[in-house]
Amino acid sequence: MLITLEGIDGSGKSTLYRGLEERLADLNPLFTREPGSPYLGEAVRRAIAENNDPLAEAALFVADHAVHLATVVRPALEEGRLVISDRYSDSRFAYQQVSLKGYHENPKEWLTAVHSRWSIVPDITFLLLISPKNALARLGDRGEMEHFEQEEFLEEVQKNYLDRMSENPTRFILVDAELPADTILDFVEKSIRERINKQ
Ligand code: TYD
Repeated sequence: MLITLEGIDGSGKSTLYRGLEERLADLNPLFTREPGSPYLGEAVRRAIAENNDPLAEAALFVADHAVHLATVVRPALEEGRLVISDRYSDSRFAYQQVSLKGYHENPKEWLTAVHSRWSIVPDITFLLLISPKNALARLGDRGEMEHFEQEEFLEEVQKNYLDRMSENPTRFILVDAELPADTILDFVEKSIRERINKQ
């Protein structure tokens, strides 16, 4: 089973991820993330930092996804393991639909085409919803900001996430990311265990 965690920067995904690592240890899940595949992760980081060509950046995110699938996700799923990924393809549909505006006539069409017929669709996607202002306030003391971390940009990203959810209503589970971290963790842990027991 493939479970993904999505949400804008500062939505608390990393805290949830670390909590799940502790809580779900008995299920022996494979915890992984995007971006950050074996040999492309560094190139993606560099593209984000240089911020000079959105299409090159988007293509690198897709390439990173391909390497991630081939070397990490697919082998683990074939072994029957539970895989939990911090960000996955929905991040591209949310972020690159904004960053590619003006560079590509129809970013959604490109993203749909570039993922179709090879990418694996998650079984469950938890979407952490938070006001971009509060999300940025949480990130505030972390130091240098990436070019994605701007309020108007994240507003649009979150809107794309919500559109994506309305197009895939059975896959997405919405989480109120303004709630206390432990409440969120309890809810997500419970949802995952229920789904696994139903299998
Ligand atoms: P990351 O460092 O993992 O940030 P976070 O801790 O918020 O998950 O990811 C770097 C940035 O890359 C983040 O702002 C989201 C963005 N991103 C995309 O724009 N497209 C993608 O496909 C992915 C996976 C991430």
